[in-house]
Amino acid sequence: MPTPVVAGNWKMNTTLDEAQRLASEVRDGTGSDVGCDVILCPPFISLQAVWNAVAGSQVKVGAQNMHHESSGAFTGEISPPMIQSLCDHVLLGHSERRQLFGDTDQTVNLKVKAALAHALRPILCVGETLEQRESGRAQEVVANQVREGLSGVEDITRLIVAYEPVWAIGTGQAATPETAEEIMGGAVKDTLSALFGDAASEVPLLYGGSVNPGNAASFAAQPSIHGGLVGGASLQADQFLEIVRVVAEAKV
Ligand code: PGA
Repeated sequence: MPTPVVAGNWKMNTTLDEAQRLASEVRDGTGSDVGCDVILCPPFISLQAVWNAVAGSQVKVGAQNMHHESSGAFTGEISPPMIQSLCDHVLLGHSERRQLFGDTDQTVNLKVKAALAHALRPILCVGETLEQRESGRAQEVVANQVREGLSGVEDITRLIVAYEPVWAIGTGQAATPETAEEIMGGAVKDTLSALFGDAASEVPLLYGGSVNPGNAASFAAQPSIHGGLVGGASLQADQFLEIVRVVAEAKV
């Protein structure tokens, strides 16, 4: 079984000072035998501060996005070599990027390949909208996002996949653990296995969408769920640390 993972996606929250404080609180609350990979994904501007704050601890750092090119005339963008020394992970294809900022399966695929080429662990985010779920297409949509996102990728040993149904993000309406398991043990796992064989079983699969300290254990209890990608609840150190604790415990 893959090492469990709990990642906090801070989105467009925290000033530099707040990010530093939150990272320090998470660092102080994370023991050396935490039993789970803990990843903080602050805004770009705070990557350096968070990287310094967690240096020497078990806590890892991720960016929330990046461009796939290494440099060039892309005003406002951040490239893999720029973040490479400040983080070890990068969220790619988050639904907010797909819905609000034009990320497509094709651009997400370019970013996944760029992340791997720069020794970053990509956290590929997939998930269906409410409309897609209601029209019975959830499995198909997610399977496609996994397939397209990984097109041309040969080695998935550094990959993490997060299933985040769009209708469950930031709504307080988490999927049921059974619904999440259906997709993660179905579309996600089946597609990874069809493409990569046995290597698929070592890819950590995270559920995301209104994860909180009260529901995290029930997600982690599912066989195809190895952890969580946490938005809102990752902005409070005590809540985030409690999620880390219950996920590690459920996965022992
Ligand atoms: P949420 O966000 O936990 O606030 O629903 C999850 C995410 O978007 O990664």
